[in-house]
Amino acid sequence: MELKEAINNRRSVRSYTNTTVDKATIEKLLDSAVQAPSAMNSQPWAYAIIQDGALLKEYSDRSKHYLLSILDQVPQLNKYKAAFENPEFNIFYNAQSLIIIFAKPSELHSSEDCCLAAQNLMLTAHNLALGTCWIGFARAFLNLPEVKAELRIPTGYEAIAPIIVGYPQVNPPAVPKKSPEILFWK
Ligand SMILES: Cc1cc2nc3c(=O)[nH]c(=O)nc-3n(C[C@H](O)[C@H](O)[C@H](O)COP(=O)(O)O)c2cc1C
Repeated sequence: MELKEAINNRRSVRSYTNTTVDKATIEKLLDSAVQAPSAMNSQPWAYAIIQDGALLKEYSDRSKHYLLSILDQVPQLNKYKAAFENPEFNIFYNAQSLIIIFAKPSELHSSEDCCLAAQNLMLTAHNLALGTCWIGFARAFLNLPEVKAELRIPTGYEAIAPIIVGYPQVNPPAVPKKSPEILFWK
């Protein structure tokens, strides 16, 4: 696939088939993620992979519960209140695979580095006919100390990019994108 085609046609996918993404394919995605640039080549990322559908459903329910509990502190989330209260809404859209990119502590730009790894991963997935969607709704929950302990994430690591992966049930339509807003060009 041409780079331009991959960049322009990748979409966030929110509906998946039940086909499992095999280990070799997940490894291809991780291999592409680690090719990303990083500040001082620090490569400050680490990965957790969850392919247990029951655990993902449990984490979706617990994430929604947690998000409802912090609505007062994060007013931008208020518009999703009904979704978080809906027992049918799975924040992972019933995908069977979740890759979480964690930033290692003590690096200068580790969050930015992880975002670059995430984009590599999502474009590579698209090239392999896989769908992805970054699930920001899961981030705060995944950073709770008790959840990191459950996943045996080392102290100080921070979940940056929770990304679901699977085979798309439908290919989403194009999303309108704005033209670049130029602030200065001399
Ligand atoms: C940091 C970040 C957080 C996101 N969180 C969510 C999320 O929690 N749930 C969701 O359905 N989509 C989420 N998305 C996907 C965006 O909604 C999506 O990228 C945007 O609507 C543009 O669509 P496109 O990815 O198809 O170009 C997130 C994307 C980013 C970059």
